Amino acid sequence: MRFLDGKAVVVTGAGRGLGEAFALHAAHAGAAVVVNDIDGDLAERTAGNIRAQGGKVVASDHSVADPGQAQAIIDLCVREFGSVDGLINNAGLNYESLPWDEDIDQMRELVEVNVLGVMYVGVAAARQMRAQGGGSIVNVSSGAHLGQRKLGTYAATKGAVASLTYSWALDMEDAGIRVNALCPLAHTRMVWKSERSLRACPPDRTASRIAPVALFLLSDRAHGITGQVVRCNGPQLHIVGQPYFKAPILERDVWDSDGVEHAFNEVFQAHLEPYGLEKRLPPRLRKWIVPATAS
Ligand SMILES: NC(=O)c1ccc[n+]([C@@H]2O[C@H](COP(=O)([O-])OP(=O)(O)OC[C@H]3O[C@@H](n4cnc5c(N)ncnc54)[C@H](O)[C@@H]3O)[C@@H](O)[C@H]2O)c1
Repeated sequence: MRFLDGKAVVVTGAGRGLGEAFALHAAHAGAAVVVNDIDGDLAERTAGNIRAQGGKVVASDHSVADPGQAQAIIDLCVREFGSVDGLINNAGLNYESLPWDEDIDQMRELVEVNVLGVMYVGVAAARQMRAQGGGSIVNVSSGAHLGQRKLGTYAATKGAVASLTYSWALDMEDAGIRVNALCPLAHTRMVWKSERSLRACPPDRTASRIAPVALFLLSDRAHGITGQVVRCNGPQLHIVGQPYFKAPILERDVWDSDGVEHAFNEVFQAHLEPYGLEKRLPPRLRKWIVPATAS
């Protein structure tokens, strides 16, 4: 079904993995596509496949992590296709590390690509979309943003993408721009690197199974849907709940340390939240829930 006919769409990180699937499906649905990847050969390969099937496409080897190059991706789309109707902000990196083993340069690179890259391309696209009278942005987050072992830096970047999505959806609604985020799970290079991810993500969880979700959010079929974080891991599709201020909300003119301690001992103790994707109970709650072993 050609439900993106006449639309111009930018997909970053589209040389392989999820981005490649998003670009191929977008072209199949009728969109003219900018296939961006910092690995220019891979971008050209994806573009070549789209061209071979009669699609309108141009490749870009710009880095999303450089503001000037991010702008150049958007400029290329306008120059080639006359507009930017959709952006899938997909380019990303990851690695696993315990906090004390972190390499500072690797941390910075991850933040530059996963957070600043999404911001740079998103801001450039938003300016163009506002001038045109509307558009749709799909930011790629991750279920890891709820917190996962050895993924602190990656999780933080994907949490930033979720926050950005809520904020941008608020800012951009009046400009006719919808902003949603997608938390995918698919058998790509990113998953091959980790045994835990491989267990959670067998080979039949292909990137192609996620593409229809991204394309739906991108397209006019999703009119009225903005500010949402949507997760799809292949078989499961659901909305990710947003953080909120949890009741009870206690009030005092001033909170001193004694008052805070009382609040925790007398009230919040029973309201502590299980944390991380694995929903680990805080130790104070754990003693009530896990049966004591006989000594
Ligand atoms: N695979 C999963 O299960 C999974 C789960 C959750 C989130 N994600 C997210 O989905 C997105 C795609 O991941 P993937 O699994 O396809 O990974 P991948 O490694 O297969 O592909 C990512 C692509 O991004 C490109 N890229 C990296 N830095 C770039 C830059 N500065 N500028 C332009 N391109 C750049 C890479 O060259 C690569 O081709 C990422 O944002 C990732 O965090 C993936």
